[in-house]
Amino acid sequence: MGIAPSDHSTVVRNHVVRCISCGEATGAIAPDFRCVHCGDLLEVDFPNWSAGLAPDPAVQKAIWRERRTSNQALDLSGVWRFREVLPELDDWASAITLREGNTPLYDLPRCGHSAGVERLQAKHQGMNPTGSFKDTGMTVAISFARQNKFEWVACASTGNTSASMAAYAARGRMRSLVVIPDGKIAWGKLSQSLDYGAFTCQLRTDFDGCVRVLNEIIRRYPIYLLNSVNPYRLEGQKTSAIELLEQLDWQVPDHVIVPGGNLGNNSALGKAFLEMKRLGVVDALPKISVIQAEGANSLYRTVHETNGKQLVPVEADTLATAIRIGNPASWKKSVRVLEATGGCVEQVSEAEIAVARAEIGADGVGCEPASAVTLAGLKKLVKSGFVRPTESVVLILTGHVLKDPEYTIKFHRGDLSVPRMADAEFRTLTAKQRKAPIVLDASADAVLRALEAEDKRDG
Ligand code: F0G
Repeated sequence: MGIAPSDHSTVVRNHVVRCISCGEATGAIAPDFRCVHCGDLLEVDFPNWSAGLAPDPAVQKAIWRERRTSNQALDLSGVWRFREVLPELDDWASAITLREGNTPLYDLPRCGHSAGVERLQAKHQGMNPTGSFKDTGMTVAISFARQNKFEWVACASTGNTSASMAAYAARGRMRSLVVIPDGKIAWGKLSQSLDYGAFTCQLRTDFDGCVRVLNEIIRRYPIYLLNSVNPYRLEGQKTSAIELLEQLDWQVPDHVIVPGGNLGNNSALGKAFLEMKRLGVVDALPKISVIQAEGANSLYRTVHETNGKQLVPVEADTLATAIRIGNPASWKKSVRVLEATGGCVEQVSEAEIAVARAEIGADGVGCEPASAVTLAGLKKLVKSGFVRPTESVVLILTGHVLKDPEYTIKFHRGDLSVPRMADAEFRTLTAKQRKAPIVLDASADAVLRALEAEDKRDG
């Protein structure tokens, strides 16, 4: 048994943790990060902002920009650089950081053309230290875990949270328990978790089953939960929206499009945009839309069948394994963001995801399948008229292209079998994007002959 934590609550400094339903501010936080009164999710709130002590927008913009020239560890982090709007640690020097954040904003001209919009950009969160957006939330939540004297941290994961947690635990000299669905996560992600030294358990179930098991473990063992129900995770993830606004010189895009799995990320981004508007950092909001895979479309069904009132869980199945989730924890936060920003939720097929993923690659950027739902969804939103061709759009790409090379290789070789579609139909729908490698004799003649044929075909 590891060292028992002294107390699970945090020393509250600039923030309180509140229930999203009953509004109750909680002192001691339950291990499952649920409200002890009504069982709903918690969120971080900054009471000082209503007491006339809100950060000044002009001052903050200047400080945040100036920190980009600093070599201090905390300033080099694209998360802690925004610390005035983050929950405060007892000792800033104790933050566990890998210089997360500071991710690029790319133009996607070919994808924009294919989707039918003039101004398309991608904020590539796959360019974080472990290759996914999870690092931005992990640095904050794990720093609070260590502040609260936990030795062990844990998460259930479709692969990216676990890779991130394992890395940050290793940096913070903490121990980590990874609970993942056996056979349902990409090899790149599993290999990271092993390399960073996590105690890795592959359970014979899906992600939702892993969450159920872990919820029991945290009740029986002193271990700090690092899934996105942990509100400190969302505080860190919030910063990518602030960084995006800074990269756009505080001009608010018309649309931000996010993949939806457990629904923490769109909730975090929404919280950030709403807070920036409240503080006067910007004067408008983007419409935040969520895109899900058809085979993991719980939010889509929740919004369309119950008007966002009642969660419709599904049996999830998609090759975009990162978002293979049927019972998303943060659905209420997500619905709130859709309503507050006027965004919508769309679903996309396996073929649409595969084509979009290859198109993002063809713009020289690349991403893992779950991230590509954003472009696939955008195409549908343009067709339906929700996004107009002249509006500015930012896609949030959540994971690096090398996270799931098996998907990519199989796709190009024509060997990918997707759920709910015959192989032949899938191959026809994706034929234009596939570029299989060719095997040739080791002679310049053979390569040149192939090259000339290729040149003729493309020309
Ligand atoms: N994209 C990627 C690459 C992801 O890894 C995830 C979630 C999402 C999108 C969806 O984000 O859950 O905040 O709606 N991955 C989690 C994990 C569940 O365990 O790595 P969300």
